[in-house]
Amino acid sequence: MKQKLEDIKQNVINCTKCDLCKTRTNSVPGKGNFKSDVIFVGEAPGRNEDKNGEPFVGVAGKKLSAALDEAGISRESVYITNVVKCRPPKNRVPSTDERETCKEYLKQEISIIKPKIICILGNTAFNSILGGSEITKFRGKVVRKDNQLYFLTIHPAATIYNQQLIDVLKEDILKLFDNIRELKDGKEITIDIEYAS
Ligand code: URA
Ligand code: SF4
Repeated sequence: MKQKLEDIKQNVINCTKCDLCKTRTNSVPGKGNFKSDVIFVGEAPGRNEDKNGEPFVGVAGKKLSAALDEAGISRESVYITNVVKCRPPKNRVPSTDERETCKEYLKQEISIIKPKIICILGNTAFNSILGGSEITKFRGKVVRKDNQLYFLTIHPAATIYNQQLIDVLKEDILKLFDNIRELKDGKEITIDIEYAS
């Protein structure tokens, strides 16, 4: 299992499947515990991530860490990744084409880790994975599609200049881990939205 993730990581590092490979410094493969119950999925690497080759190590990453801390969860215990693994120039939103091309890696990460739930961070991930929009309307909700559970919340970057949103993110992450505990105890959790496949 760990070896397969290591293979994906190497493939991401060497990937030239879309034009973002021309402008990146480093690809940013997913990182974390391959036995995690949850995969966090962001949009795409930013400047710090591009520099370091690791996801969520900049200011947005600090916000995510703070929300995890609040729930008593260490970053090392979870798995964190992005829809797109290379930084789009000037942090523009990755194009449909870039997302579709790169999504194969995310699918592989999910099929190896088999998380109990996937935590979608913000609109780009929401749109890329579930075809959704208006995350602020749907945040805090549990979705089921094709027998996979998803939890929807805002992107940590949205909280940088908005103290109210940091409380929203923290509240959502607490709810996420409450749900994970229930799932581990074999309990039924409330599904807010059933998606047709
Ligand atoms: N924003 C993201 O969506 N992903 C990162 O890795 C960092 C910032
Ligand atoms: Fe490959 Fe994804 Fe990077 Fe494009 S963004 S070069 S598909 S790893």
